[in-house]
Amino acid sequence: MTTVIVLGAQWGDEGKGKITDYLAEQADMVVRCQGGSNAGHTVVSQGATYKLHLIPSGILYPDVECIIGNGVVVDIGLLLDELDELKGQGLNTSNLKISNRAHLIMPYHKALDQLQEEQKGKAKIGTTGRGIGPAYVDKVNRSGIRIADLLDWAVFQEKLKIQLAEKNHLFASYGKETFEEAAILKEYESYVERVKPFVADTAPIINDRIDAGKKVLFEGAQGTLLDIDHGTYPFVTSSHPTSGGACTGSGVGPTKINRIVGIAKAYATRVGSGPFPSELLDEMGEKIRQKGGEFGVTTGRPRRCGWFDALVARYSVMVNGLTDLAITKLDILDELPEIKICRAYSYQGKELTEMPADLNQLAQCEPIYETMPGWQQDTTGARTFADLPQAAQNYIKRLEELSKAPVSIVAVGPDRKQTILRNSIY
Ligand code: GDP
Ligand code: IMO
Ligand code: MG
Repeated sequence: MTTVIVLGAQWGDEGKGKITDYLAEQADMVVRCQGGSNAGHTVVSQGATYKLHLIPSGILYPDVECIIGNGVVVDIGLLLDELDELKGQGLNTSNLKISNRAHLIMPYHKALDQLQEEQKGKAKIGTTGRGIGPAYVDKVNRSGIRIADLLDWAVFQEKLKIQLAEKNHLFASYGKETFEEAAILKEYESYVERVKPFVADTAPIINDRIDAGKKVLFEGAQGTLLDIDHGTYPFVTSSHPTSGGACTGSGVGPTKINRIVGIAKAYATRVGSGPFPSELLDEMGEKIRQKGGEFGVTTGRPRRCGWFDALVARYSVMVNGLTDLAITKLDILDELPEIKICRAYSYQGKELTEMPADLNQLAQCEPIYETMPGWQQDTTGARTFADLPQAAQNYIKRLEELSKAPVSIVAVGPDRKQTILRNSIY
């Protein structure tokens, strides 16, 4: 087994950074395939905390190759800042490669993101404001600017002119500030030489490593329920955080994928708007938010908290073809006398065991809970499954049963070492 997709099985922030870092210790390459700087992945190791937005979590290991794949939308300014920050923390960043097919997030995409949210008013999505949606819209509209274009200055200038004419017209019609072509050209010209050494056609490189028997990890961003097709549309991101997205976003065929690990918290969180049936709007929600430090890495927004939703987990197992689950943040539940799991929804008096696709139906679903006894013991020092209190083991086994996939990894703290491996992944 050599290729593993690590992805979010809920609404993002499940601990993908932590689990990718844990698995990267034995990997040769880590690839980001979709999303962009909307992601905020945290890795904690040897007392240091790293917050990554665009750069794969494998960067902590000096010999692991890191790839920003064709499916990612890249804010070059933020990428270069992140590189500088990591270098400042003493990391080797020379093993990074960026696909020349990846699209650029331009300044007007960020302004458009804000404008569209303003226009939506109460129906706003609660985006991260990083220009993700508008950048993917231009990509699909075949009017995006790619990294390869940036390295061909005449092409970049021509494409920018066309884009600015269109975008400025729109901004002006809303009475918003327009963008100066000369200022953007000056800014982007300064990026060219800095980014050039990292740029490559990355799909052949990734496939070459796979064919050579190397261990390649695909690090998902966001989560399954934020997928543009499979998520709670329209309260989603504009890419495919699901397993198919790892293939198209890297140029690797599905026949080359061996394992697909879905990460889920031992409870549930969501940032931004949209239905969340097992959300806790009471003191318990606040307690979990505080203990779990549930505040966004990218925007600092408080995350909405709730109980583990087994319908979400089952759905993720299905649409991703998950071979394994990793349950993170078990330790956050350590003090609770009892813990609830949403096992079904009640919709207009009927019991549903699968998530409805219709958003209005989902918004009307009430959770049906089962209650398990808590363990009320510290689990942060557990290093094997047997180290966990019996009630915690039972909780994990119940999540496994309801989700219909084996829980192969359990995390009991943010540090790389606070990880229990039940079934080997490679
Ligand atoms: P990602 O976006 O999926 O990589 O997740 P984030 O980094 O946005 O959020 C997860 C947060 O939980 C980070 O602060 C992690 O350091 C932290 N974390 C991950 N796993 C655990 C765990 O098992 N226990 C605790 N206490 N914290 C964890
Ligand atoms: P990681 O990789 C949690 C959410 C936003 C919003 C919706 C659309 O750290 O798990 P966007 O800016 O993508 O257009 O916002 O998606 N969102 C995330 N929520 N974790 C993330 O990334 C997210 N990236 C986007 O809050 O609801
Ligand atoms: Mg995050």
